[in-house]
Amino acid sequence: MDVAGVVEAVARMVMPREPGHGWDHVERVRALSRIIAEELGGGVDTEVLDIAAILHDVGRALSPENHAEASARFAERLLRALGYPEDRIGRVVEAIRSHSFSSGRRPRSIEAAILSDADKLDALGAVGIARVFMYSGAHGRGIEESIRHFYEKILKLPSLMLTKPGRRMAEERVRIVKLFLEELEKELRDLSRGSRGSLGGGDAPGAEAR
Ligand SMILES: [Fe+2]
Repeated sequence: MDVAGVVEAVARMVMPREPGHGWDHVERVRALSRIIAEELGGGVDTEVLDIAAILHDVGRALSPENHAEASARFAERLLRALGYPEDRIGRVVEAIRSHSFSSGRRPRSIEAAILSDADKLDALGAVGIARVFMYSGAHGRGIEESIRHFYEKILKLPSLMLTKPGRRMAEERVRIVKLFLEELEKELRDLSRGSRGSLGGGDAPGAEAR
């Protein structure tokens, strides 16, 4: 088994069962990382990128406040134990450390930039919408709070993209999110108007359908 295979086997055991950040998220981030790297064509250490993608959220089970740092430290210890070359350990650790939205660090390598973009892309589009509500369901967050999260975090992600393919995919995916939010907010607006006494009037919810 190659190093990535061993790392994957370990990560599968350690990954938190957290909805939205579990192993399925990792698999999507790996696939998105591969797509971006292929589109960039060359200059990317694809093994470093894959290992960083596999381990980027492993620290969520270890430290919920600073999961990027916890994941980076876990990766460093694991890769050193596996005898992985020091310079490549450094690249994996740097990519993991700087991938997080809240870390405030700017990725300094191409692998770090790709991982950061891939992770953010998985928070956009239809999958991103599904993940927001999975998280909300698990944490007792209602629809209004979820909408706030879209405005405070999700809609800002396209402006944080670092690679050209990442930017393009983010623009495509954010359109789905905006359409969804428009419709969700319209439905809620119509209902609150209805509950203020206009039910039965021309603009009552579902009036067109009847
Ligand atoms: Fe992630």
